[in-house]
Amino acid sequence: MNCRQTYSWLALKQHYNEIKNLHLRDMFAADTVRFADFSVEFDGIFADFSKNRITRETIKLLENLAHECNVAASAERMFAGKKINSTENRAVLHTALRRAATDSVLIDGKNIIPEIHEVLVRIKVFSEEIRDGKRRGFTGKIFTDIVNIGIGGSDLGPKLVCDALKFYSKRNLTVHFVSNIDSTHLAETLRTLNPETTLFIVSSKTFTTEETMTNARSARDWFLSSAAVEADVQSHFAAVSTNFTATEQFGINPANVFVFRDWVGGRYSLWSAIGLSVALSVGFENFSDLLAGARAMDKHFLEAPFEKNIPMLAAAIGVWHVNFFGAESQSVLPYDEYLRLLPAYLQQLDMESNGKSVMLQGEPVDFHTAPIIWGQPGTDSQHSFFQLLHQGTRLIPCDFIAVAKPLNPIGDHHKRLMANFFAQTEALMRGKTTDEAHDELLGAGTSTHEAERLAPHKTFAGNRPTTTFLIDKLTPYTLGALLAMYEHKVFVQGIIWGINSFDQWGVELGKQLAKAILPELSGEDPVPHDCSTAGLIALYKKQNVRT
Ligand code: F6P
Repeated sequence: MNCRQTYSWLALKQHYNEIKNLHLRDMFAADTVRFADFSVEFDGIFADFSKNRITRETIKLLENLAHECNVAASAERMFAGKKINSTENRAVLHTALRRAATDSVLIDGKNIIPEIHEVLVRIKVFSEEIRDGKRRGFTGKIFTDIVNIGIGGSDLGPKLVCDALKFYSKRNLTVHFVSNIDSTHLAETLRTLNPETTLFIVSSKTFTTEETMTNARSARDWFLSSAAVEADVQSHFAAVSTNFTATEQFGINPANVFVFRDWVGGRYSLWSAIGLSVALSVGFENFSDLLAGARAMDKHFLEAPFEKNIPMLAAAIGVWHVNFFGAESQSVLPYDEYLRLLPAYLQQLDMESNGKSVMLQGEPVDFHTAPIIWGQPGTDSQHSFFQLLHQGTRLIPCDFIAVAKPLNPIGDHHKRLMANFFAQTEALMRGKTTDEAHDELLGAGTSTHEAERLAPHKTFAGNRPTTTFLIDKLTPYTLGALLAMYEHKVFVQGIIWGINSFDQWGVELGKQLAKAILPELSGEDPVPHDCSTAGLIALYKKQNVRT
């Protein structure tokens, strides 16, 4: 069903016209319980939605929309393993990866939970043996460096989690991530590493991805160019994949292969064996806590009423911004250095999932889907693009994320960080009127003429929507809950928009063309191109002559 044809969409349209000119400043002034009514606390994550341009009526209508679009029933279908990824005829079961061992989830009549837990046990044993120094390199030395080779979901998730949980990591075991096919990434990573103490994890759902396989082959060459012999590859390479045949062909010891299944999407895979690097870095207990946090969020998502359901509200308010206020992008602003990679992770999660323009039955969408996700950590971003957030011409809803208990307290740093955090959402909400700017200038001794000239430049329209997530403490558990929250947000939006959030055909065309161009760069006859592409290729070939 097209969401635009629902009763609630029409009602929301009318409601939008009624409230679009309301200012958040006035809404707060008139309503002292706004904060209490539009915020939700769940297990260490406090979500404040009150600084969005919503009223109680908006929430009611958005709830109706979710209801008309069958969001709750669709969530149940996903959790139950129905094949909701219709273009690939696959179930979507990243949530099963964090279920308890006693649970049961059936695919084609087979319970998949036992296999998930068998793999978890293998991850536990393997990671503990490496961390404890029981499993060593080919010369008997303890491993000091892990290099995860993967890209997209086989990189961004574990990289984010390893970085975010660095506080909990084993400091004498460094995890590196190599993703780019640009050889600089591999070369600069390996530059200071010792082959005797380096373990490679080749992470690829398909084990065919060009970037990953190219990097993996070059890493093996680098390893073999040391004193190692072919047989030593067995103790220095592990793989995480759904493609057991390909890992074997690559020469990876089956005992070092950790499998997951095709019902886990790449961008949803960090809970699977793709999290091996996380277990190595922070230990299996912490990896389990990450899963437990996500599991708790799954339960909250399935059970909490709409108006107290964090992912539902985040999703519905996101739809409200995109489809009614015309917001083209959404900024993610973590005020915690440990969460600096969150925007990059959410870019894939959200944009690869919902960057679609075709509905489930193949008809084109006649509304906008995923916003452009972007962001950087605060306070750095305050000194770069915040100018545009405050005074630019576009409406950019922002997620502000901070942690109440700092992991590395030094002096009053955290209070200063948080003062900025609170100030920014207040400023974006309130703004500053021209009269206020004018009076402020006069108060500072500026002449009347000068005050009049400068006041428009110092005016802030305000009324810019923000959602605040205040996390009690950054732990594996709260991080797991936060990431699962975003997964469910993306899911709900995909259901409302009637698109398939779980395929990614849009990445294929570029891959196909690159495959055709590659032989041409090595001297084979050119394939037909437009004159721009042909001209650029010819120029590159001329310039790329090795000196
Ligand atoms: O480029 C698209 C994509 O398929 C992503 O969805 C995926 O996360 C990434 O490539 C890596 O794929 P794989 O894990 O199979 O190497």
